[in-house]
Amino acid sequence: MFRENLKNEIDSIKNQKLYRKLKGEKGIELNFSTNDYLGLSKNNDVINDYNEGLKYGAGATGSRLTSGNLNHEKLEETISEFKGTEKSLVYSSGYSANLGVISALCKKGDLILSDELNHASIVDGIRLSGADKKIYSHNNTFNLIEILEENKNYENKFIVTDAVFSMGGDIAPVDELKKIADEYNAVLILDDAHGTGVLGNGKGTLQHFKIKPNDNIIQIGTLSKAIGTVGGFVTGIEELSDYLINTSRSFIYSTALPPAVISASIKSFKLIKSGELTDKLSKNIDIANKIFKSAGFIEEEQITPIYPFLFGEKSIKISEELLNYKIFCVGIRYPTVKKGSERIRVSITAENKKEDFEYLCESISKINNG
Ligand SMILES: Cc1ncc(COP(=O)(O)O)c(C=O)c1O
Repeated sequence: MFRENLKNEIDSIKNQKLYRKLKGEKGIELNFSTNDYLGLSKNNDVINDYNEGLKYGAGATGSRLTSGNLNHEKLEETISEFKGTEKSLVYSSGYSANLGVISALCKKGDLILSDELNHASIVDGIRLSGADKKIYSHNNTFNLIEILEENKNYENKFIVTDAVFSMGGDIAPVDELKKIADEYNAVLILDDAHGTGVLGNGKGTLQHFKIKPNDNIIQIGTLSKAIGTVGGFVTGIEELSDYLINTSRSFIYSTALPPAVISASIKSFKLIKSGELTDKLSKNIDIANKIFKSAGFIEEEQITPIYPFLFGEKSIKISEELLNYKIFCVGIRYPTVKKGSERIRVSITAENKKEDFEYLCESISKINNG
């Protein structure tokens, strides 16, 4: 019965053409789907420090509040110094950070204002929090103000947004959001998963806007993208970490990250600080902008390494056919993006060569015209 039920559910997903399966094709020469924007996951110094970290053991053996608090505080100090904040707290993933931070801070009777395109982990954190939720249209600060005007009675208000949107590479208007948060006495929660290591000389989206961290800004991040390892973090005022250590369930009730991951992540932050890799990435973004634009695949130049090529429903097919060209570049469809805005999500890295971008464009054109 149980098996039958599952089969029926899966068939229904297939009938709606929404079936997903795991990927990881062999023989790929070019990966345009990676979030390893600086190539740090394969950096020798990072791998050496990963190996060094193994001296603590392969696993952390317990949660941070039990036996698992090994080298983790060193990474938290590194992140705080890097971001110019008072204190940071590391989680086992970016997903777990969003879930654990939002659900611990926002309570029943509070109001959360959330961008319509926010990442699923933010959405799930909001659901778990029990707070009231209002969605504002994407990056639309007029709409946000409208909603705030209509909801002045709430004592605690939180504005939450991806700082760089994962599927479009576009940036939230953080300067305006900060002003609005100040004016309406709201806390601003920024998920800088794709901004850290990328924008503001790698320091992230706040730095990009030249905004100094303050008491009412919370930055969430992940170690699994430009940092090249795995894990998540939150950074802000000292009391924030203290509060979360005592209340955030995904932090308290989960085993700490493996110490090797922590050692490797510390090295990644050090390497980013030197500026060489972020410069390389910026140069590649400039080159890709020109090539993608003249191929007609983007209209506007990007300042992040995420490029949505909007091919609509054809995106999945193009993505599958790119494998014949030894290119891995996933197609993204509903429900990850809205119906009608299906896309090939092209992400580039500091390691790419100009010829890679050209080969990608030639291959897509052949498939599209063939
Ligand atoms: C905007 C955003 N937030 C959070 C996450 C989750 O991070 P992680 O992969 O570390 O769980 C992701 C990545 O999937 C993301 O794109």
